Amino acid sequence: MKFDTPAGANPIDKMTVIGRPTDRIDGPAKVTGTAPYAYERHDVAPNQAYGFVVGAGVARGTIRSIDLADAEAAPGVIAIVTAENAGRLGKGRMNTAKLIAGPDVQHYHQAVALVVAETFEQARAAANLVRVDYQRVPGRFDLDAELERAPLVGGDSNEGSAAPPVDEVGDFEGAFAAADVTLDERYTTPDQSHAMMEPHASIAAWDGDQLTLWTSNQMINWGVGDVARTLQIPKDKVRLISPFIGGGFGGKLFVRADAVLAALGAKAAGRPVKVALTRPMMANNTTHRPATVQRIRLGAGRDGRLTAIGHESGSGDLEGGQPETAVAQTKLLYAGANRLTSMRLAVLDLPEGNAMRAPGEAPGLMALEMAMDEMAERLEMDPVEFRVINDTQVDPEKPERPFSQRNLIGCLRTGAERFGWDRRNAKPAQVRDGDWLVGMGVASAFRNNMTMTSGARVTLEPGGRVIVETDMTDIGTGSYTIIGQTAAEMMGVPLEQVEVRLGDSSFPVSAGSGGQWGANSSTAGVYAACVKLREAVAQRLGFNSTDDLDFTGGQVSAGGRSGQLTDAARDGAITVEDKIEFGDLGEKAQQSTFGAHFVEAAVHRMTGEIRIRRMLAVCAAGRILNPKSARSQVIGAMTMGAGAALMEELAVDKRFGFFVNHDLATYEVPVHADIPHQEVIFLDEADPQSSPMKAKGVGELGICGIGAAVANAVYNATGTRVRDYPVTLDKYL
Ligand code: MOS
Repeated sequence: MKFDTPAGANPIDKMTVIGRPTDRIDGPAKVTGTAPYAYERHDVAPNQAYGFVVGAGVARGTIRSIDLADAEAAPGVIAIVTAENAGRLGKGRMNTAKLIAGPDVQHYHQAVALVVAETFEQARAAANLVRVDYQRVPGRFDLDAELERAPLVGGDSNEGSAAPPVDEVGDFEGAFAAADVTLDERYTTPDQSHAMMEPHASIAAWDGDQLTLWTSNQMINWGVGDVARTLQIPKDKVRLISPFIGGGFGGKLFVRADAVLAALGAKAAGRPVKVALTRPMMANNTTHRPATVQRIRLGAGRDGRLTAIGHESGSGDLEGGQPETAVAQTKLLYAGANRLTSMRLAVLDLPEGNAMRAPGEAPGLMALEMAMDEMAERLEMDPVEFRVINDTQVDPEKPERPFSQRNLIGCLRTGAERFGWDRRNAKPAQVRDGDWLVGMGVASAFRNNMTMTSGARVTLEPGGRVIVETDMTDIGTGSYTIIGQTAAEMMGVPLEQVEVRLGDSSFPVSAGSGGQWGANSSTAGVYAACVKLREAVAQRLGFNSTDDLDFTGGQVSAGGRSGQLTDAARDGAITVEDKIEFGDLGEKAQQSTFGAHFVEAAVHRMTGEIRIRRMLAVCAAGRILNPKSARSQVIGAMTMGAGAALMEELAVDKRFGFFVNHDLATYEVPVHADIPHQEVIFLDEADPQSSPMKAKGVGELGICGIGAAVANAVYNATGTRVRDYPVTLDKYL
């Protein structure tokens, strides 16, 4: 199905199953430990051996030699894989660095070897006996220093085409110089780790030249392609199976060393091999959100209207990597005639930077929305009102292009009222609660709504069960449930009558889980397949009209006649397949999601301890397919943003080039005690330009802006502005 005109009325609009706060259909399996994660698949391939990854001990250099003698002689060792003995290897399209080092080493903890043994302990013990002789060469590890010679680069624009290195509209410098009130500040965000609960893990088994990988991966089809490219085998010889995923956040958009090494280990061992990255390997072996250095310049008239908006961001990555697109939202969020955005990309020999939940906007809004708070103060305006008067209903770079829907003002106003914003004291450091200084902060949330082709296969079985199969993944987001709800709504059956099968490359290719496009795109693909199934059912029942079909309560009616859904499949199951393909609606109108974050924070006047007291998010993000799972996405993202604001930071060792705090004891993330109260409100929307579902994404929206709202609340409490995240007490005491 081609989606190239705005959706009219359709069966989803009934919202008898869609739009209901439904429990996750996979929930019971998950909480009873019966949902098997990749490393737990004891059932699928007999005689599994264990692989343990050896990571490079230098950040940059070459491997002179690897002495495997002691490791090979260790108890239980079956095989050892290195770049030397692995045969010819390619590189995945989504991987910046190679997944196996040799002879060159591109970053610390890049995989050097996989030791395969009968038990995990034997593999780990033997891995310690692998002796690697490195020729270490100096690397570039200091972002500030490298940015001084870093070139300007383009990035992916919001329309998906390559953006120019410098994007200027009007006369930014002139307008900034002439503005009544200005701000020119520097903000920094650190490297961050996805820190998902389930580590990267895979079991590999070969049947002749056919490889099956049970793994933990957000994007099955990308993964199949990159395994094939890396191992230099045809794509149809690779099967990926990933039905349950214990968190990804972008760290599992791509296959990593566990998958490729499990495959090579299984080949060398002649039997299935399982590999999990240990927690201390993850920060340096896999990807992270790159640190940014951002300069923001704002100019406004005394009336508070922005006349100049400038945002320049610098970040680093390995050779061939991409910039962190921290200026993306600044192109679209506020009105202002004169605009400048640009990005610099430094080459760093640190581990690979890549996408982490709301790449671009998450760190970009941490800077922009703090700058907006500072600017409101300089203008002596309320920060909510300042944002409201600078709202725009069109793409400010291309005024002929409207937003498909945009209710940022509704989010700000609703939130202000519900949060009790009128109780905020505009003057900082005025409100006391015993020994605590109390403040409130606000920030806008913005994230684009991308759409991706997505396919599904649906079957009506005799007896009336509906089976949905798609390679879509559920990374803890609720995909199973909203896909089940979509099929139930379309076929007029209860949710319990639908079975959803996900995460298998033998199913039709879906949008996958990324960029908050998964919910809208994958359910739209299921919608498309169900439209076809409805037509097939109508035909079997002998209806000639297909335009006024109604499927409700197991009944099918059309043209004044009706029949039983189950009768259509009496003589055998009906299976159809289709996909949704998105036309150019996203080019004609800017599709984005909006929100407003409100935070109350308290800071101890003696110790400087920071405590978030309350958080509220108001979201305007199209139709909400399941308010319960959507809320769960938003509060999870708010929690992650609170971590970004107050604690998360990968500490770079600038001498040796690695992230020092590579475990959960030293890379701090929020715990329950850090997040006492969260509330989420969804404004009632349906966007006919986004898809037949009229939905958008919220999985990333929730982390956008929240970090600045926390920091702004801390400022309002203390009167001290910290522009280098995370906002830790040592920076303002
Ligand atoms: Mo997301 S960072 O595209 O998983």
